[in-house]
Amino acid sequence: MGKTILTGDRPTGKLHLGHYVGSLRRRVELQNAGEFEKMFVFMADVQALTDNADNPEKIRKNIIEVALDYLSAGLDPEKCIIFIQSQIPELAELTTYLMNLVTVSRVERNPTVKTEIKMRNFEANIPLGFFCYPVSQAADITLFKADIVPAGEDQKPMLEITRELVRRFNSTYGEVLVEPDIMLPENATARRLPGTDGKEKMSKSLGNCIYLSDDADTVWQKVRSMFTDPNHLNVSDPGTVEGNAVFTYLDAFSCDDDFAKYLPDYKNLDEMKDHYRRGGLGDMKCKKLLNSILNEMLDPIRKRRHELEQDIPEIYNILRRGTEKARETAAQTMDEVRNAMKINYFDDAELIRQQSEYFKNK
Ligand code: TRP
Repeated sequence: MGKTILTGDRPTGKLHLGHYVGSLRRRVELQNAGEFEKMFVFMADVQALTDNADNPEKIRKNIIEVALDYLSAGLDPEKCIIFIQSQIPELAELTTYLMNLVTVSRVERNPTVKTEIKMRNFEANIPLGFFCYPVSQAADITLFKADIVPAGEDQKPMLEITRELVRRFNSTYGEVLVEPDIMLPENATARRLPGTDGKEKMSKSLGNCIYLSDDADTVWQKVRSMFTDPNHLNVSDPGTVEGNAVFTYLDAFSCDDDFAKYLPDYKNLDEMKDHYRRGGLGDMKCKKLLNSILNEMLDPIRKRRHELEQDIPEIYNILRRGTEKARETAAQTMDEVRNAMKINYFDDAELIRQQSEYFKNK
């Protein structure tokens, strides 16, 4: 049988360039390569609520933003099943059973959860739902029998717990669930795109993002004020490329053809970097090039988003249809899970027959 691929995002904000290079671009490629039998992409609103319980409106509003980002970036509901996590009750059901197969101390050892607890100042008061989200994530993955989960480095601990839970489930109840593998981003820039301020990570809370939905003026404002080399004061000064956000973005987004098109002074990025290092190349020129490249990439995405925004009810219909399709797989796996766990009382004619025999002959 062909392989299944599954991945999701917490709908806590619009998607930005970091999401694009880190995951979205790859997902569209994977979708179009057609090597996988099934592909699921979902909005993890249940998980988002584990640390936003008091702000459901934020999650609700971002469901549609993320859906528009997905579709405008090229995810195609004909090729990939897009759904909303909370609308699959089977996920809650499977989570309940998986929780019996893992200990509190095992979940406590999860380094991603540890960091998140610190970041959110949850130390004294960890919401139980938040604490359990790695188990719920294991349900997300296993309910759809995903073989491959494209995700960032920070999701490795979730995949480890998932694999342990699969082994535990299968050895306890029978072979039902599938052990997934993580598919990490292909290179360093894809793993972590810095913010426009040069900080380690592009992130909404740091206010250093370029959003897929930013218009051309906004992109230029952001690119123009981007962090470069703080010691590169005059055009003639030698400059540093490493840690210079403009060059990191050029690494992530430019190709040789862009030079012929926008900056024929150089054949490729290496030549341009050499000039910057020697001195004599100004930041503005670099930023203008980056701006052209970003806008060429973002223009079709923005146009498509604008078209999609004209029919919002249809976007909800796409999500509804995706969710219905996802539930078919979910129901199928849950039947197998209930059979294996012997909690299929009403569907097991043999059980009813045996029990009536037993009580007759008692
Ligand atoms: N934890 C992921 C994130 O924070 C989102 C997520 C939830 C997910 N369930 C998943 C990712 C299942 C991959 C597979 O981005």
